[in-house]
Amino acid sequence: MTIRYRYAWDCIAAVTILLAGTAGAQTGSASPGNDNAVYAELAKAPKKAVERHNPLATDPDAVAAGGKLFEMHCAECHGDTAEGGKKGPSLRAEEVQQATSGTLFWLITNGVVRRGMPVWSKLPEPQRWQLVSYLKSLTPTDPPGPDGQEKPKP
Ligand code: HEC
Repeated sequence: MTIRYRYAWDCIAAVTILLAGTAGAQTGSASPGNDNAVYAELAKAPKKAVERHNPLATDPDAVAAGGKLFEMHCAECHGDTAEGGKKGPSLRAEEVQQATSGTLFWLITNGVVRRGMPVWSKLPEPQRWQLVSYLKSLTPTDPPGPDGQEKPKP
């Protein structure tokens, strides 16, 4: 991944934000710091995707099934309990927990490839919704401090 490549993406992102701003879709974004940049992608979900409902929202098995899928596919980067790991951010963060199910589904489907989050469009849709159910079942945690208290990884 070259710097030029990332720069191009930043330009595209800037244009997208401008366009979204014109449409009045943007609410509280555009903080000058980079703190929330990690989760910025969530704000880019198209309206149609944001509004999609989880067809498994009332399925009592969806959370457990999603937890298993998470272990298999996501834990290596996001940590065993989604608290964040070396390669991926916490998914208990407010930004993720406040995203709609449709937004999370969209994000999992499309990934954030340029930033290391893979595309999961090859997982069957019901499995992606199970992952959404699992993510939504997590409780947000206040990070214990800047250096965290992550469990040491073997
Ligand atoms: C190879 C490592 C890796 C794997 C595997 C992975 N992720 Fe990620 N994920 C990332 C990284 C890196 C980010 C941060 C992307 C960014 O900066 O926007 C991320 C971000 C996210 C986000 C937050 C959105 C955002 O804008 O950052 C969600 C939700 C997410 N991942 C869900 C999942 C799920 C569900 C799985 C399993 C199906 C998964 N991830 C597997 C690396 C990974």
